[in-house]
Amino acid sequence: MNYHLPKLPFERDALKPYISEETIDYHYGKHHQAYADKLNGLLPGSKFETADLVTIIKNADGGIFNNAAQVWNHTFYFECFSGNGRKEPAGELAEAIKSSFSSFEKFKEDFGTAAASLFGSGWAWLVKNNNGSLSIVQKPNAENPLRDGLKPILTCDVWEHAYYIDYRNKRPDYIKSFWEIIDWEIIASRY
Ligand SMILES: [Fe+2]
Repeated sequence: MNYHLPKLPFERDALKPYISEETIDYHYGKHHQAYADKLNGLLPGSKFETADLVTIIKNADGGIFNNAAQVWNHTFYFECFSGNGRKEPAGELAEAIKSSFSSFEKFKEDFGTAAASLFGSGWAWLVKNNNGSLSIVQKPNAENPLRDGLKPILTCDVWEHAYYIDYRNKRPDYIKSFWEIIDWEIIASRY
């Protein structure tokens, strides 16, 4: 199988001033693309040659896992945004956030702390547990909660390449901007 990246669901300048076109060009155009290219180079002759991404993420290790997970994680991350979307969750997801974290504000605070305190490269995730409740999990490097049987709802990429062009070393400033570009209608459809 040859993986091609889906087109971004927004224009390159749609997330300005929070995320610049230059960051999109590097993050999507270079980093995300490189994970897909590396995966396509590793799959031929492996037992995952014809597997779909989720099967690979749940079963592979090493380079094949890392690159497949980074392809999936980045697609999921970019598809959290629209630049002009719903600013707060509504409906069932809003209720679940309230019952799991007490309020949307407290959820944002806890998620932001998880994203800011993750040491090194990785991802902060909002996941749906099997009983419908929500949890925040930190995952290093390429790791993904699908492997733990959890359903990803939202993610924040805290690899430096996600923010260094726009925010340099100020990860907390990037996380503050992250809330401005999420489209909660998309996030709610995943719950
Ligand atoms: Fe990234």
